[in-house]
Amino acid sequence: MKILFISPEAVPFAKTGGLADVAGALPVALKKLGVDVRVALPFYQAIRDRYTNISPLLHEISIRLGSQSLRADIFETHMQEKVPVYLIGHDAFYDRPGLYGDAKGDYPDNLERFSFFCHASLCIPEAISFSPDIVHCHDWQTGLVAALIKGGYRHSYLQRTMSVFTVHNVGYQGIFPPEKFSVAGLPLSDFFHIEGFEYWGKLSLLKGGIIYSDAITTVSRKYAEEILTPEYGMGMEGVFLKRKDVLHGILNGVEYEHWNHETDTFIPSNYNHKNIRGKKDCKRDLITETGLDPSMLNRPLLSMVTRLDTQKGIDLVIAAADNIVQMDAALVILGKGSHDLHERLVQTAMRHPDRIKLKLDFDECLAHRIMAGSDMILIPSRYEPCGLTQMYALKYGTVPVVRTTGGLDDTVSEFDAKTGRGNGFKFVPYRSDALVSAIKRACDFFSDTSTWHTIMLNGMKADFSWDRSVKEYMKLYNSLLLEQD
Ligand code: ADP
Ligand code: GLC
Repeated sequence: MKILFISPEAVPFAKTGGLADVAGALPVALKKLGVDVRVALPFYQAIRDRYTNISPLLHEISIRLGSQSLRADIFETHMQEKVPVYLIGHDAFYDRPGLYGDAKGDYPDNLERFSFFCHASLCIPEAISFSPDIVHCHDWQTGLVAALIKGGYRHSYLQRTMSVFTVHNVGYQGIFPPEKFSVAGLPLSDFFHIEGFEYWGKLSLLKGGIIYSDAITTVSRKYAEEILTPEYGMGMEGVFLKRKDVLHGILNGVEYEHWNHETDTFIPSNYNHKNIRGKKDCKRDLITETGLDPSMLNRPLLSMVTRLDTQKGIDLVIAAADNIVQMDAALVILGKGSHDLHERLVQTAMRHPDRIKLKLDFDECLAHRIMAGSDMILIPSRYEPCGLTQMYALKYGTVPVVRTTGGLDDTVSEFDAKTGRGNGFKFVPYRSDALVSAIKRACDFFSDTSTWHTIMLNGMKADFSWDRSVKEYMKLYNSLLLEQD
C-alpha cells in the first residue's frame, strides 16, 4: 500500500499542537507495518534553520495560483524508520518565523500559502513516479486536496487515489473571503456552492475537505459523535451529518518512544510503575526550577501544558485559582497563545506568587519535566477532539482532572474508591465550581498515599500506543482500496 500524508505540521520538524505529534507518529507506525508512506510538509523557516540533513529533490516546479504562476522547490529529508518527508519550499510563503501567523494574528495570505502547499504536494507523485493509493490529509490547511484530486489533478499518478481527511479540530475552519476562490484553482461553478466550499457566503477549506474526501476521520470516538451536534459542530454539524456514513472516530495514539518515563532524557530521574521513587525527584526538581516553596513537595502540585486558547478552559482555571490555593495546592502552567489569556494568567499568578508559576512559552523539555514532576494535570477543555497531554500524563503517573468531552472522556475514567478502578477525575458542566469539586476529590485522595498510588498505577499501566490506532487506520485504508475505480 502507498500513502502520501499531506500535513501542515509534523514532529520533529514543525509543531504548534497535537496535530504535529499525530502526523509525526502515524506514518512511522504505518511504515513499521510495511506501508510505503511519505509525508509532505511546508518548508518552514524553523525547519530550514534547525535541520541540515535536507537534500534538493525537485527544482522550480511551476504552480498556478489564481492568475499567478509561482515556483516550488521541493526538498527531501526523513523522519524515523526512514519515512521520506518532502518539504515544499517557496520562501515568500514559508520563510517566516511563525507557521500560521505572528503577534498581529494570522498571516493575511494563509489561503495562498496553503493552497500553494496543496497544489505542490499533488505535483510530487508525478514528478517522482509515486502513485499513492491513499492521500491522507490533515485539517483545513489541506482541505483543497480532495477536490483537486477530483477536479484537476486526476493525472495518471492520482488516477486511482482515494482521499482521507482527518479533522483534528473543528474550531479551525479555514474561512476566507469568497472573492478569493480563484486562488484555489478549481472551477467556481463546480466547487463554490452550498454542496461545496461555500459556507454562509464565505469560502471554508475545512468544509471542502469534509465534502470531497472519500473518508473522514476525527481523533476520538466521542468527538465523532459530538461534532454531529450544534454544541460541538461549530456550524459544521449539518455538513458532518451529510457525510456521517464515511465519518470515523479513531483515537490518537501516544508515541511511547518519545513520551516514556523510563527513558526520557529531559527529566532528572527515570522511573516506572514498579518503582516510582524517581517521580519524587522529578517533583523536587520541578519545584526548584519553578521557584515554588520546597514545602510543596508533600502537597498536591497541579499543572497544565497547553496552547492558550479558549478551547482549553483556561478561564475556568483562572476562576478556580483562589480555591486551588485554599486547598494548599500549587499550580504550574506552561502555555503559549492568546495575548488576552497571557495577560489574565499573569494577573492571576500575581495574586498568588508563591503558589502559581507560569511559563508563557512553547518549551518541549519543560513539558516533559512538568509531565513527570507534577501530581495532577488539569485539562478542563470546553471541547477536546482527542487531547494527547492526558495520555502522556497517565503514563507519567500524573493524574488527569478533565472535563468529560471528546477524547478526554474516552481515555480518562473517574476513580472509584470502592472498586479501586479509574485513572483520574472528571466533571461535566463547563463551570469552575465543577472543576473545583473535581480537584477537591483528587486532593482528598492525594492525602491517602496508598490510594493515590493505586490511581497513579491504574494510569501508568494503560496502553494508548499507536499499535491499536494504526490497525484501525489500516482497516479504513483497506476498505477504501476496495472502492478504487
Ligand atoms: P492541541 O493539539 O489541541 O494543542 P493536544 O493535547 O492534542 O492539544 O496536543 C498538545 C501537544 O502540544 C502536546 O504534545 C503538548 O505537550 C504540546 N504543547 C502544548 N503547549 C505546549 C507548550 N506551551 N510547550 C510545549 N509543549 C506544548
Ligand atoms: C487538535 C485537538 C486535540 C488533538 C490534536 C491531535 O489540535 O485540539 O484534541 O489531540 O488535534 O489530533
